[in-house]
Amino acid sequence: MASIRERTYIMVKPDGVQRGLVGEIISRFEKRGFKLIAAKLASPPKEQLEKHYADLSSKPFFPGLIKYMLSGPVFALVFEGLDAVKTGRVMLGATNPLQSAAGTIRGDYALAVGRNICHGSDTVENAEKEIALWFPEGIVQYSLLQESMIF
Ligand code: TYD
Repeated sequence: MASIRERTYIMVKPDGVQRGLVGEIISRFEKRGFKLIAAKLASPPKEQLEKHYADLSSKPFFPGLIKYMLSGPVFALVFEGLDAVKTGRVMLGATNPLQSAAGTIRGDYALAVGRNICHGSDTVENAEKEIALWFPEGIVQYSLLQESMIF
């Protein structure tokens, strides 16, 4: 059953921050109707990035991925709303920007898989793990007037 409380972890990667795309990415999620419930600029230690990408630790691109993620601050975000995880992935586009449709974030702003500007959780279970990893301090709770009008 669809939940208006589903959450996804979205992270603007160092190249997205450097290129001034934080506002654009937040804006796309807000305009789509997702509720912003957590946001911060962060310079995470290497261990945190290795934990975030633990599933990929055996891949040949893993060392380069960690180096890229350490090249500058990231902007960590949590959005909440109907089908937030799946819709967030659709809004991001394919992992390789060359295969991302125009109109998606990667399809509009990126060219290379190793510089694809934004992360989004791929399952609800991973979203919960990632939110706990990036926001151990917890998340602010508030209501939007429009929430009562969705169903
Ligand atoms: P992955 O979790 O497969 O993709 P997504 O970010 O779409 O969930 O991979 C994580 C990141 O690793 C990806 O965003 C970019 C990087 N990556 C590479 O650098 N080379 C690759 O061949 C792949 C598959 C990913």
